[in-house]
Formats: sequence, C-alpha cells, structure tokens
Amino acid sequence: MQQVVEVLKKTESFFDRSGIESPKVEAEWLLASVLDCKRLELYLQWDKPLQEDLLEQLRPLVKRRASGEPLQYVLGYSEFHDIRIAVAPGVLIPRPETELLVEFILAHLREIDSPRIVDLGTGSGAIALALAKALPRARILAVEKSSDALVQARQNAETLGLRERVAFRSGDWLKDLSFEADCIVSNPPYLTEEEWQAARPEVKEYEPKDALVAADGGTGDLRKIVRDAGDRLAPNGLLALEMGIDHGPTMSALARDYGYGEVLVKNDDSGRERFLFARKG
Ligand SMILES: C[S@@+](CC[C@H](N)C(=O)[O-])C[C@H]1O[C@@H](n2cnc3c(N)ncnc32)[C@H](O)[C@@H]1O
Repeated sequence: MQQVVEVLKKTESFFDRSGIESPKVEAEWLLASVLDCKRLELYLQWDKPLQEDLLEQLRPLVKRRASGEPLQYVLGYSEFHDIRIAVAPGVLIPRPETELLVEFILAHLREIDSPRIVDLGTGSGAIALALAKALPRARILAVEKSSDALVQARQNAETLGLRERVAFRSGDWLKDLSFEADCIVSNPPYLTEEEWQAARPEVKEYEPKDALVAADGGTGDLRKIVRDAGDRLAPNGLLALEMGIDHGPTMSALARDYGYGEVLVKNDDSGRERFLFARKG
C-alpha cells in the first residue's frame, strides 16, 4: 500500500510535468482534502498507508487539476480572509488581493458601531461574508446580477451561519437601492477584452467572462458605480472599489469630478495601484 509521502511525490511530479505552477502545494491541498485534514497535518501522517478507496477519490481530482481546471473548482472551495467559501464554475474564484480590500474597509469602519454595508457584484459572497464575520453588528446587503452566483452566495451564507446577517438581492449595481449606506464596496469586472484574451487558459476556460471583463477600457462598470454611489452614501460614507492596475488616475479624477471629498488610491501587495477609496464630501 502506498504511503502519504509516496502519493504526494508522485502527484507533485505529475503536476510538474503537466505545467502546474506550484505542484507541491497543490498536491498537498488535494490530498489534504481527501484525508479531510489541514495541509500541514499531512506531515504528521507522512508514513500512513493510503487505502484504495482514498486513492480512488484522489485520482479524478488530480486528473481534473492536471487538465487545467483551477484548484479551487476541483476542491470546491476557496479560502478567503478567515472564511471558507464554496465555489463552482460559473462563479468567480475570490482573489487574494480582494482580501486586502476587506482589510482596508475593516480599518475604515472600526469607529462605526453597526455599519450599513452594500457589496455590489457579490459573486460567491466573499466580501460580504468576510465583512459579516468580522463585524458582528454590521447590516449587509449583497447585490448580484448572475443567478448562479446568487445561489452560491446564499449557500455560503447558510454554511457559515451568516444567513440572518446578510441580505441578498438580484440587481443591477445601485439601481433600486433606496437606503443610505456607510460603505459601498465593489470588486466589479475591470479587465479589458485584450487582458482577457491574454489571461491564463485556466481563467479563460473556466471562469465567467462576464464577471471579469468590462467595456470602456475595463472602466465601464467602475464608472457607473462611482457616478451613482455618491447619492446612496450616508454623510462621510465610504466607497471602496477594486480596480485594474492602470485605472488609478482616471478613477480618482472621476471621483473628484463627482464631488467626493477625500479620494485615495491604494496599492496591492505587489505595489500596484489596485483600490480606490472615496468619501462622500
Ligand atoms: C470580479 S467579480 C467579483 C465577485 C466577488 N465580489 C469577489 O470579489 O470575488 C464581479 C461580479 O460582479 C457581477 N456583476 C457584473 N455586472 C453586474 C451588475 N450590473 N450588477 C450586479 N452585479 C454585476 C458579476 O456577476 C460578478 O459576480
């Protein structure tokens, strides 16, 4: 019978030959999911023999990943901030840079007792649910136009025990939003068609294009949100957006034109301009 260490080595080598960028780590993620343990706990059972039924569960997962399906779709989940979010094809996999957006918002909202937050284009629910977990007194509305994503987001809320804390609504950005929010957050589509064409095959073949690509050099949806959010923010309310790395100058100028007070562009962890923060003046 093969031991954990042997299966890991074989899977790593197969992933390496299949062109997977981080073959060792991804082999560990898949085996840990089959063994229902944490990735680092694999090292505590290094020489454990793997029963055939476990190998049978592992093989199709390894095959799917080696053929290019994103790891998170193969696993069925993605770790985001301090929650686990279920994801499936048709719903965007939350990205690590978006965790930073959540962190910035938490720092901004610290002084408000029970903030009203709107997450536009919630997708899997990642931002809304991470904020709900971190801010037990927040009231959150999550808006999304894709029905597949809404189903997934609601399921995630249920699994995380946050269903009572986050309201989900099918909608088109800020249309039909009647109350004033302390924070409007969005990670809208912001890639250009050319950036989409140049994206890695696992993005193009598996992730929904509608969730990633926007008109007008990638700024089409960002512009609509900046235009309309000012009217839906409470005094001193915060608009927090993720955007493309070239969008900082255009979007900050636009926010000033629309009369926002403090306007700030912040970098992601790789030092690229990635977030726009604008306060209602
Ligand atoms: C880049 S994804 C972000 C998903 C999620 N918030 C995250 O950060 O992982 C953009 C999301 O906006 C949604 N979307 C696109 N156009 C929309 C619209 N007009 N109104 C509401 N949501 C929209 C897409 O379906 C997609 O789920």
